[in-house]
Order: sequence, then C-alpha cells, then structure tokens
Amino acid sequence: TKLCVLISGNGSNLQAIIDAIALGRLEAEVVCVIANRPNAYGLERARNAGIPAVCLDHKNIADRQIYDEQLQQHIEQYAPDCVVLAGFMRILTEKFVHHFAGRLLNIHPSLLPKYKGLHTHQRAIDNGDEEHGVSVHFVTPELDGGPVIVQCRVPIFPGDTAEELASRVQEQERGIYPLVLQWFAKGRLTMQGNKAVLDNELL
Ligand code: GRF
Repeated sequence: TKLCVLISGNGSNLQAIIDAIALGRLEAEVVCVIANRPNAYGLERARNAGIPAVCLDHKNIADRQIYDEQLQQHIEQYAPDCVVLAGFMRILTEKFVHHFAGRLLNIHPSLLPKYKGLHTHQRAIDNGDEEHGVSVHFVTPELDGGPVIVQCRVPIFPGDTAEELASRVQEQERGIYPLVLQWFAKGRLTMQGNKAVLDNELL
C-alpha cells in the first residue's frame, strides 16, 4: 500500500508512520511527503528516511483551485493508494476531496464532532471539559466533518495548559494513525456513502 503524506509542520505523525513501517506494524510504504511550508520539519524527517519530500509552497500560488490542482498532480505522480493528512493545515477544495474520496484520511485533535477547526486544546480547557482526545476520519468536503473511524480519549486535569494537553493527545496520535492505516492497507476499511466501514460493519 502506497501512502502519500501531507504535512505543514513538525511531522510527529509522519514519524510515527515511518516508525510503524520499520517495525512491521504497518504494511505500507510512504512514497512521498509533501509540505505546504518550506520550513516544515517533517520534510527533514522524510529525507532522513530516504523518502522523496517536496515543498509546494502555498505562498507562491495564491489561487486555492490552482494550488490544489498542482497538489493533485504532484500526488498522482506517485500513484498512492491513500493520501494521509498529518498536520496539513490547509482547507482542501471540494474538487480535490472528491478526486481522492475514500482514500483521503485526516487526524484531528479533538473528539469530533466537538471542536472542528483550530485551537482545539484551548477550547476544550476553556469549556471546562473533563476529557479531550483525537479522531481519525475520512475526509469529505465539510471541514473536519467526514466519518470518524476511531477516537482516543485523554483526561483534562485541573490547571492543564494547552501545551500539556496537546502533548497528552499527541501520545495517542502516535498509536492511532498507524493502526488505522494498517486497517486500510489490509483492505478492512472503506468509506461507503458518508459512512466509514470496518470489516463490513458501519462505524
Ligand atoms: C496534530 O496534533 C494533528 O492532530 C493535527 O496537527 C498536529 C500535527 O502534528 N492535525 P505533527 O506535525 O504530526 O507533529
């Protein structure tokens, strides 16, 4: 199973995927990494692992449709089975999302449908929530609104900062994304209509 991973920053999820493949827990290959920011540290992680890594800088392409068309072309050169959004901080056009429908996954740091969008950790703290977490979902045109595949929960402790909570959530992210990708690689996971299906069961 060929994966193309899209990133914007640190790339800790990318690293978890690379490590899971090295350990044999994920039967897949990362065929390319694409970032929208030249200084994304994940590009270095990719190069260290011998994975082709390129930056398609959104600052050079103002028009979103054109950016996404170029992104799609870059991705298709590698003919991946699955496009993995791993901290890719851009809203994708409907055309792009439809093109990759059913093979486009995202990880979002909240217990969806709560806290779509940005600053999820601070919003959960500010609301006085006692728990928070992370979701992996299929991507549909609605931002962070596609069918959820799996979630992990973590507690919020009194006095937690957003940074402390984020790192607690990220510990779970490291496990959850490779697990879901292994399901996908094994053909166990599909999107049917607007639902995620694992082993013929609706999630
Ligand atoms: C993660 O918290 C992920 O859930 C969110 O963006 C962050 C990316 O972190 N979508 P990294 O670049 O994988 O370290």
